[in-house]
Amino acid sequence: MKIGLLPLENITVFAPLAGITNLPLRLMAKAEGCGLVCSEMISAKGLIHNHEKTKALLASHPDEKPLSVQIFGAEPLVMAEAAKIVEASGADILDINFGCSVKKVIKTGSGVALMKEPLLAGEMLKAVRKAIRIPLTIKIRSGWDPSGDQALVIAKIAEEAGVDAITVHPRSAKQGFSGHSDWTLIKRIRDLIKIPVIGNGDILSAQDALAMMEETGCHAVMVGRAAFGNPWIFSEIIALMEGRENPAVGIQKRFDTMTHYLEASIQHLGEKQACYLMRSRLGWFAKGLPHSAKFREASKAIGSRTLGLQLIDEYRAMVEIENQGV
Ligand SMILES: Cc1cc2nc3c(=O)[nH]c(=O)nc-3n(C[C@H](O)[C@H](O)[C@H](O)COP(=O)(O)O)c2cc1C
Repeated sequence: MKIGLLPLENITVFAPLAGITNLPLRLMAKAEGCGLVCSEMISAKGLIHNHEKTKALLASHPDEKPLSVQIFGAEPLVMAEAAKIVEASGADILDINFGCSVKKVIKTGSGVALMKEPLLAGEMLKAVRKAIRIPLTIKIRSGWDPSGDQALVIAKIAEEAGVDAITVHPRSAKQGFSGHSDWTLIKRIRDLIKIPVIGNGDILSAQDALAMMEETGCHAVMVGRAAFGNPWIFSEIIALMEGRENPAVGIQKRFDTMTHYLEASIQHLGEKQACYLMRSRLGWFAKGLPHSAKFREASKAIGSRTLGLQLIDEYRAMVEIENQGV
């Protein structure tokens, strides 16, 4: 699997997730063998105006490479300038968001709003293509209605503008994240264009990933929500694709991962901000474990590293005792 001239180690991709896929979480996916990690969406305007918080989102580490950095915006010149900044930051791929359906973003003509403006989209893609040398990708939805017709138009325009791969999340703008994604649209786009298609939407397990590849012929699979608290989904997909056995993740590994996430987040964000984030994140890793609701509730009070580590240790002991009693 190659995007432009860039080879990927395998066909798994960790989705861009605003407020979620920061450096520590991307490194955790990478440690599980994920073939390509993506930054959360970054404002093109914020980049060109040198906003500190926006630029901080470009933080990367050699261990996570290759990295795809996603930007959003609608103005061709602004997007081209932002793309140059992303390229200079060392990103391996520049991705453009054609899927965000949040009102604040649509209002500016960005995200999924671009899907009903094929002329502007084409002009913007050509400007960005001219501005950078690294591979250029886009991530689209079905469009404004569920027919998928707008997605077909945008896919063709993108291919003609020199885009190197397209990720398809086949839900309409109106759908948001409700209902189901329509995988048949991934196949229609796969059949229409020659550049690689990355399928996305509702992959909850390694089996789902395999099913999507078989049903749609997509070249790679992107996983978003199912990787919350579950970076192991990437090694599971790879093992399944290679026909290998993959041992289930044990309690030890799960708790070690929680501790690592806390520590790495503190290193990346500082103790205060990381602990605040952990209040809603550590609970992800407790899914399916006994007393997870109690742990989630308790984690809402994490105010320091010490408290976070103590909470994880106490919960680990509780789960271990429970398991011994079985
Ligand atoms: C909290 C959240 C944040 C997201 N942020 C982004 C984003 O920054 N850029 C983007 O292209 N898609 C974003 N998405 C969409 C996901 O990348 C993905 O397309 C969607 O969740 C469907 O995949 P899944 O079913 O595997 O989760 C976001 C989704 C969620 C739930």
